[in-house]
Formats: sequence, C-alpha cells, structure tokens
Amino acid sequence: MLKLPALLLFAFAAQAAQHPPYIKREDHDPDGIGVFYMGREIAQVMGHEAADWLDRPERETEEAPTMLVKSLKLKPGMAIADIGAGSGYLSFMMAKPVGSTGKVYAEDIQPEMLDIVRKKAVESGQKNVVPWLGTTTDPKLPAQSIDLMILVDVYHEFDKPYEMVSNMVKGLKPGGRLVFVEYRKEDPNVPIKEVHKMSVAQVRKEMTLFPLDYKETIEILPRQHIIVFTRK
Ligand SMILES: C[S@@+](CC[C@H](N)C(=O)[O-])C[C@H]1O[C@@H](n2cnc3c(N)ncnc32)[C@H](O)[C@@H]1O
Repeated sequence: MLKLPALLLFAFAAQAAQHPPYIKREDHDPDGIGVFYMGREIAQVMGHEAADWLDRPERETEEAPTMLVKSLKLKPGMAIADIGAGSGYLSFMMAKPVGSTGKVYAEDIQPEMLDIVRKKAVESGQKNVVPWLGTTTDPKLPAQSIDLMILVDVYHEFDKPYEMVSNMVKGLKPGGRLVFVEYRKEDPNVPIKEVHKMSVAQVRKEMTLFPLDYKETIEILPRQHIIVFTRK
C-alpha cells in the first residue's frame, strides 16, 4: 500500500502532468519573459503607458480593423468578450453591431487600461461596453455566457496560457466562438517583434488541449491571421 508522502507525490505529479510545462531559460529574446511553453517564448505584456499606440490613427490602414470586425458577422444581442482589450479600441468598434441588447466585456488585467475604457464609454455615451478586470489565469466571466471571445494581439502575452484558456473556455456558450488575431509569424515582412507574432500551426497546436473545434483561418488582413475555434 502507498504511504502518505508517496500518495502526495503521486497527486502532485498527476496535477503537473495535466498541462505542458513552463520552462525557464536564461538565454532568451529580450522582448520575452524567459519562459517557454510548447516550443515558443512567452512575450512581455504591453504596458498601459503604450496605450496611445493602440489608438493610433494609422491603425486602420496598417491592420484593417474595420474589415476584421465585419468578418466576425456580429449580430444584435450578442455577448462578446474582448480579452486583453487594452484601451478598448476593438471593444467600441464591436459594440455598435451588437447594439443596446448586446454587450462587450472589455477585459484586461491592467486597471489603468480599464480606466481608459471607462473614460471613452462616458465620453462616447456607449453604454454596452463593460470594463472587466481579470487575472493572469482567469478572465472571471460568467459561465457559458459568451457568444464570441476575441483576442487581438494578446494570446502570446499570457504568462499562464494553459490556465487562462481553460477558464476562458468555461465562459463560452457551447458552440460559441474563440477568435485569435495574431501577427503572422510565417511572414518576415510583418514589422512586429518576433515574440509578439504567432503561426497558425502554433496556435492550433496549443488549442488541441481544450474542448475546442478548429473552424477556419481567415486571411484577409494585411498583417494578422484570424484563427477561429468553437467550443464543443
Ligand atoms: C498589445 S495589447 C492589445 C490590446 C487590444 N487587444 C488591441 O488590440 O487594441 C495586449 C493587452 O493584453 C493584456 N493582457 C496580457 N495578459 C493578459 C491576461 N492574462 N489576461 C487579460 N489581458 C491580458 C495586456 O494588459 C494588454 O492590454
């Protein structure tokens, strides 16, 4: 029969075996955090001090966010979660098509970003954008409440991607969409730091750990993939 310490060790090993490890390395990209997950380095979080960059006027020509929002085929009444919303640039664009019967949770881990969202909501009178504070492991959204969860230039910054996606999936309705918008790692001409880019193959590999079906990759944007999954 196993003694208590052996049982505890077994339980710990079983827990640790649940997801791929986070591996620390001294030798790493200066824009990364020195932690590797499933073969890639996790990027540093973009600080709120750089929020102006998210709202830059040239973003429309550089990234075509209007085309991105159109491709999502949003409908009135939908509940959207903009995970890692930053200053809410995309949240406010998505708030219009979902209308007053819908809502957009502008979720982030930086309270300073949410202050910007709150200020924009007051100034614009847009009432269906809800600033929402999460943690690095959990967006804390109501269970099975979200029709579409979108992460624009965010996933590669998660320092606990396994825990975060596990909890994000809990917030999705069955059949709800999970959409990653990531700068193309496959394209050396995309002028973004390497650890802030992701390939379709890498995102698909990482999502095999969750109860998700891969649907499609939409390639209409100048610099980013739109990678779509649905919750089983
Ligand atoms: C490059 S910004 C993108 C902001 C916004 N999606 C946009 O495209 O305008 C990345 C954002 O992700 C947020 N972030 C990083 N890790 C996060 C996590 N675990 N949960 C929620 N947000 C996170 C950061 O605080 C930052 O605001």
